[in-house]
Amino acid sequence: MKVTVFGIGYVGLVQAAVLAEVGHDVVCVDVNAERVENLKNGIIPIYEPGLTPLVQRNYDAGRLQFTTDAAFGVKHGRIQFIAVGTPPDEDGSADLQYVLAVAKTVATYMETPKIIVDKSTVPVGTADKVSACVAAVLAERGVAIGFDVVSNPEFLKEGAAVADCQRPDRIVIGTDSQAVENKMRELYAPFNRNHEKLIVMDVRSAELTKYAANCMLATKISFMNEMANLAEKLGADIEKVRQGIGSDPRIGYHFIYPGCGYGGSCFPKDVQALVRTAEKVGYVPALLKSVEAVNSRQKEKLFGHIQAYFDGDLKGKRIALWGLSFKPNTDDMRDASSRVLMESLWAAGAVVQAYDPEAMNETQRIYGTRSDLTLMGTKESALNGADALVVCTEWNAFKAPDFDLVKDSLTNAVIFDGRNLYDPDMLEEQGIAYYGIGRGRSVLSFA
Ligand code: NAD
Ligand code: UDX
Repeated sequence: MKVTVFGIGYVGLVQAAVLAEVGHDVVCVDVNAERVENLKNGIIPIYEPGLTPLVQRNYDAGRLQFTTDAAFGVKHGRIQFIAVGTPPDEDGSADLQYVLAVAKTVATYMETPKIIVDKSTVPVGTADKVSACVAAVLAERGVAIGFDVVSNPEFLKEGAAVADCQRPDRIVIGTDSQAVENKMRELYAPFNRNHEKLIVMDVRSAELTKYAANCMLATKISFMNEMANLAEKLGADIEKVRQGIGSDPRIGYHFIYPGCGYGGSCFPKDVQALVRTAEKVGYVPALLKSVEAVNSRQKEKLFGHIQAYFDGDLKGKRIALWGLSFKPNTDDMRDASSRVLMESLWAAGAVVQAYDPEAMNETQRIYGTRSDLTLMGTKESALNGADALVVCTEWNAFKAPDFDLVKDSLTNAVIFDGRNLYDPDMLEEQGIAYYGIGRGRSVLSFA
């Protein structure tokens, strides 16, 4: 099928490449000319395992094209995906300006009927806004061309985006039209082979499904972080508690890992956006507000521990930081816990020696050159002469370090572990002070 994807970011690029791989003829349109030019030259804008060869081979085969030419894109696809960003606006609501700009573009250039697919995460009622926008432009043009707007939210996880798109748990389609459902079935048939994955529902329920999924996952994490904070005060070990509760299949082991808070481009903004949606319809979302509040506090936790350990005096302290991306296997630093930590450390006069396997360029892009941040070439060099080691992201490369080297390189043998990677007993034996999240023995609880 001929498909057009507007927005070549994490979602649009991965979705487009995966659709091309099964034989669809895909044109990707983006307003970012540099990004488009780079892609044509084989430079992939994001780090995502497996993405580079996938894009390259489909580009070479001519099934995947990149352009800034919106008219060409609109002409190409019967199906037009909207996969642009929906960042928070000033009050935390999802900003729909990019989504509506694409709707306007499609309406401006369409000459034949189109199925417009909302792939971006958008608040309930957005499909109606997209429809109204397209209808208004068509009316201005004085033409009557049929179109449908479908909700088809994306559930991929960064770091596993290719695999998630190739083998989705479910494909949610929001439409009331049988003809549109049939077209979407045809599009996704290669991904719907072994058992039925399409869940077809009305548009509003599909839009809410996306927010409900992310908010449920964020709730699990904030719940566990609250338990971890309690465990810390009560002398219990949250890692034991996690196993104790995860073994109940009604709870399960997924998404109950405590840590230094959830980040990324989705959970923080989507929880916030659903709070605003609720408030706009006169509902007080007490649980969601708490999920958000617990997470904001959790992101300050490592700094609280470090500050308490150094008796509130961080001026001139040198902190080794392992892990900058918001999670492993991505270079994405949007809303990463590492940023909250670094900014607090800098405000307190500390300097940071940081290392991340993939997010060094992104860190440089965000923070530029500053005297209190040194980006180090290896995790070992980040330790040299530092007063403490902090772990923010659970990259595999950090899971089994040479603790003798860690001890010898640090001027002060102490580890603050935001992802509970290490065994407190083992570190105690090695003579390294260790503060995880909710590990019972911590005496450094902050207020
Ligand atoms: P992104 O910021 O990585 O990419 C968005 C792209 O859209 C950019 O390349 C930008 O230049 C382009 N763009 C903006 N306006 C445009 C226009 N008018 N025409 C064409 N291109 C335009 O965003 P993302 O992370 O891929 O997220 C996209 C949407 O998908 C968001 O709504 C997000 O919430 C949702 N989502 C993201 C993830 C994720 O893990 N990143 C997962 C599921 C859903
Ligand atoms: C999330 C959703 O999982 C995905 O379905 C949706 O499409 C987009 O948002 P993503 O943000 O890529 O995906 O990563 P995810 O693996 O969900 O992690 C988000 C954050 O939660 C990370 O900061 C991670 O460290 C944190 N997390 C995750 C925890 O703190 N504990 C956990 O148990 C799981």
